[in-house]
Amino acid sequence: MRSPPLSHVLLGSLVSGLAAAATGSSSVSLATATCNPLKTTGCPADTALAGAISEDFKSASDHFSVYSTPDQIFYSDDGLQLTLAKRFDNPALRSNFYMMFGKVEVLLKAANGTGIISSFYLQSDDLDEIDLEWFGGDGYEVQTNYFSKGNTATYDRGGYHNMDDPRAAFHNYTIDWTAEALTWYVDGKVIRTLTNDSSQGYPQSPMYLMMGIWAGGDSTNSQGTIEWAGGSTNYDDAPFSMYIKKVVAVDYSTGSEYRYEDTSGQWTSIEAVDGQVNGRIDVAEEEFDALVAGGTLYSEDADSQTGSSSNDRATSSHYVYESSTKAATGSSNPTATASGSHGSVSTSKRSVTSDEAGNQSSTTLETLASSSATASGNSSSQSVSSTNGSESSHGFGSLNVFVSLVSATLFGLALI
Ligand SMILES: *[C@@H]1O[C@H](CO)[C@@H](O)[C@H](O)[C@H]1NC(C)=O
Ligand SMILES: *[C@@H]1O[C@H](CO)[C@@H](O)[C@H](O)[C@H]1NC(C)=O
Ligand SMILES: *[C@@H]1O[C@H](CO)[C@@H](O)[C@H](O)[C@H]1NC(C)=O
Ligand SMILES: *[C@@H]1O[C@H](CO)[C@@H](O)[C@H](O)[C@H]1NC(C)=O
Ligand SMILES: *[C@@H]1O[C@H](CO)[C@@H](O)[C@H](O)[C@H]1NC(C)=O
Ligand SMILES: *[C@@H]1O[C@H](CO)[C@@H](O)[C@H](O)[C@H]1NC(C)=O
Repeated sequence: MRSPPLSHVLLGSLVSGLAAAATGSSSVSLATATCNPLKTTGCPADTALAGAISEDFKSASDHFSVYSTPDQIFYSDDGLQLTLAKRFDNPALRSNFYMMFGKVEVLLKAANGTGIISSFYLQSDDLDEIDLEWFGGDGYEVQTNYFSKGNTATYDRGGYHNMDDPRAAFHNYTIDWTAEALTWYVDGKVIRTLTNDSSQGYPQSPMYLMMGIWAGGDSTNSQGTIEWAGGSTNYDDAPFSMYIKKVVAVDYSTGSEYRYEDTSGQWTSIEAVDGQVNGRIDVAEEEFDALVAGGTLYSEDADSQTGSSSNDRATSSHYVYESSTKAATGSSNPTATASGSHGSVSTSKRSVTSDEAGNQSSTTLETLASSSATASGNSSSQSVSSTNGSESSHGFGSLNVFVSLVSATLFGLALI
């Protein structure tokens, strides 16, 4: 039985931190969390998604920023490629938004290579974590895991689940995270459920998304980690690549920011500023279904967006879901908009009205078009890219939290 002795995130930070220290490279890891709200008061609040996104990574995304190793992050019509080309590469993206309960789906093909870990996970500022990880040496399983408040005192949270070779084809991995339970799916089938009465704690604080590849089998790691990773990494076999075609994320809460009101780490202590925790579960589930089916979302009152304050629309958010079956080419085309420019075979339209207070209509509207983002792979330059006039109503305007991380370069080492 292999178990990671530490959260992989810290390990990933250590590896890239060491790399930076050793080489003087500028592609260093950003901090895992600069400010732990359970240890320090006055941490910055977390920018809320409070909506839904679908990302195909045909180009750099507004919703994600480079976390480390920008020169090994590639975008194409096939989606995102994260490559470990040489020792200490640790290419990773981090979302610019946080979710306070929600549902996430990723269409992913894991990397080959002994000791190579492909990872996709949610993590919070107080180090709650919800994980999916794949071992490059194992063509038959995926690991699920979770952490609560960074507690690594026991190591039996991980679950190993047999599946068809995750390195040979794209599979569809889903995480549904509510106050009651956490459910992981592979290709639409439940592989694990964790209820909120788990004796090892339960993830329940606002989370961002991370995805990346790293060498668990590097010799700088502990023997336990190397064993967990499936053995020593042979860099002669590099490059190793993982691929992501699509990420859908829907937030169950409303508001502009999520804030810790005390140091308990309990979800009931999280304030959704100008919104409500779990304030949009019903509409989020509808959005999720539409987006994973290849549809897009837009707001019917988009025209009013430039003219009126978002508060004018707060009481009645009106969505139209344009659900398109795939065009004959078979590849999903989420950037095709509601105007039907991709010539799909059929479309069905439905409207959903929500009377929840909040910013849903503006946040869900944005979803897909990310093509104007810069491809520089530079988190600070990305944060100012792309969206024009309506930016501030999308909830992605306050990237100051994010930019401030840039200065926290070697914090990952300090954590360890
Ligand atoms: C892993 O190797 C197998 C066999 O060579 C190949 O079919 C598959 O595409 C590879 N996966 C990745 C992610 O490169
Ligand atoms: C845990 O889940 C149960 C339902 O299974 C629910 O009644 C309870 O309120 C939840 N606890 C918290 C703290 O949310
Ligand atoms: C992924 O699985 C979900 C069910 O959980 C399904 O609705 C969706 O269509 C699947 N997506 C793809 C691309 O297979
Ligand atoms: C919508 O979000 C903005 C910040 O993005 C905030 O100033 C405003 O108060 C929010 N409105 C509602 C109704 O939540
Ligand atoms: C990244 O941003 C920094 C600071 O803004 C800048 O000095 C640097 O030139 C940028 N690098 C790239 C590749 O854009
Ligand atoms: C925003 O960009 C779109 C597409 O590039 C353009 O049509 C629109 O006029 C722009 N709006 C503003 C306010 O600049």
